[in-house]
Amino acid sequence: MSDGVGRRELVVVLDFGAQYAQLIVRRVREQRVYCELWPHTTSPAELRHAAPKAIILSGGPASVYEPGAPSVPRELLELGIPVLGICYGQQLIAHLLGGRVGPGDAREYGRVALHVLDGADDTLLAGVPRETTCWMSHGDKVVALPEGFRSLARTEHSEVAAMGSAARRLYGVQFHPEVHHTPDGAAILHNFLYAAAGCSGDWEPGSFIAEATARLQSEVGESRVLCALSGGVDSAVVALLLLQAVPGQVTCMFIDHGLLRKDEAAEVVGALRPILGDALVPVDASAMFLERLAGVTDPQVKRKIIGETFIRVLEAESAKLGDFAFVAHGTLYPDVVESGGGANEAIKYHHNVAGLPSDMRFRNLEPLRMLFKDEVRQLGAELGLPEAIRLRQPFPGPGLAVRIVGEVTPEKLTIVREADAILHDELTHAGVAPQLAQYYAALPTIRSVGVMGDGRTYAYPVVIRAVTTEDFMTADWARLPHELLARIAGRIVSEVRGVNRVLYDITSKPPATIEWE
Ligand code: XMP
Repeated sequence: MSDGVGRRELVVVLDFGAQYAQLIVRRVREQRVYCELWPHTTSPAELRHAAPKAIILSGGPASVYEPGAPSVPRELLELGIPVLGICYGQQLIAHLLGGRVGPGDAREYGRVALHVLDGADDTLLAGVPRETTCWMSHGDKVVALPEGFRSLARTEHSEVAAMGSAARRLYGVQFHPEVHHTPDGAAILHNFLYAAAGCSGDWEPGSFIAEATARLQSEVGESRVLCALSGGVDSAVVALLLLQAVPGQVTCMFIDHGLLRKDEAAEVVGALRPILGDALVPVDASAMFLERLAGVTDPQVKRKIIGETFIRVLEAESAKLGDFAFVAHGTLYPDVVESGGGANEAIKYHHNVAGLPSDMRFRNLEPLRMLFKDEVRQLGAELGLPEAIRLRQPFPGPGLAVRIVGEVTPEKLTIVREADAILHDELTHAGVAPQLAQYYAALPTIRSVGVMGDGRTYAYPVVIRAVTTEDFMTADWARLPHELLARIAGRIVSEVRGVNRVLYDITSKPPATIEWE
């Protein structure tokens, strides 16, 4: 618990199942206060022991008066630790302290006008304009305040859109300060953290480097560490941290599984060699992967074969180099949280791209497990990671195998690689690449009739996919200019052998996924 930090200030968000729970953690960290998401079942004794500067109760889908609704012991509100309840969290505070929560007469959803009340507490809503807006998403609401509380703001349908007891440093908001649609949300969180909870703001990802280095040194001792590089930012940052912490004991293995994009292996090695030096060991295992994938058409089977082959190659190649006690992964905080990680639950780690199972003879190191992606990018910048790696779009571990529908063959790999390279080139030249979260060429199994020169063709279509997204859970297809699409299509059909059509995927996620398999 709290192993991402030394003894700095900590704020704990207790999770009641809110869609926005991780976002609250990020927003608190953006205020330079280190924050973690813990299960709502964390006991008051554990919290007293951890002594956070403040506790935030997240929102959640339940109703406080339903039997079995998630709750916390009332004692948690009597620890003397400042508490902010958000949405369900506010309702829970009211419920536990003798106020009343009831179903709203109208559900409030979306952007709602917020009126800050006269003489409202000058802590939580200090500096917030009297008339502003907030983002609401609730059915229930506080209909009677607990003793000692006052309402700080109201909306058309909520008399208690915010409440507080300055004496007990307990606060609640019915709306969501953590979303950007609440324009004063950052100010409200800042007020809670600094004015109500007395935080001093001692967190920044940069200070993480010194701590992570010290922790890695004590954990690893004199042992050797294997770091599997994917070519992406996370594993590269892990490699740099390790090199800083235990230089001379680290081997960074980059396995080319033959499913990379055009020139990718050379580019990754070229970008990383200057900073990793001799620690970087490229391995070309493409023949073995392609051989094992021959004839396989099921996407999940392809993934499984690639994951297993990856492990075997890593084991075999590392054995040639000596004895490794540890293997380092680029696991990030969202994976840990999704796996049920938290204060008092056994953490089952998501295995990342490498898919390394726990029965490997190595022990795991996950130095980034408390960080978000943007924090890792920032760390990368501080550690001198080249932009080419730091700002790279995510690329799936199974690589082009999930962009070739059905069987992966050398011929199809060539088609996808060449088409993808043209797409990349055109989007970069047009200046639109930085606005896209991911873009690629995919190859379906169908073929169709075309005419080229004087002859009829019967060839594959290439599918272009370009999406925008913040979190990759949902995504929208990018509205690329028609002229640009025309240029891309023209180049692909004339430059890539075996292709006579180009299709643009205009489906969002959901219902589609970002990848084709
Ligand atoms: P989907 O296709 O599920 O993709 O919308 C969401 C994000 O995950 C990436 N992705 C993968 N990454 N191994 C990975 O490491 C995989 O098997 C895999 N499948 C999808 C995808 O590129 C997108 O960023």
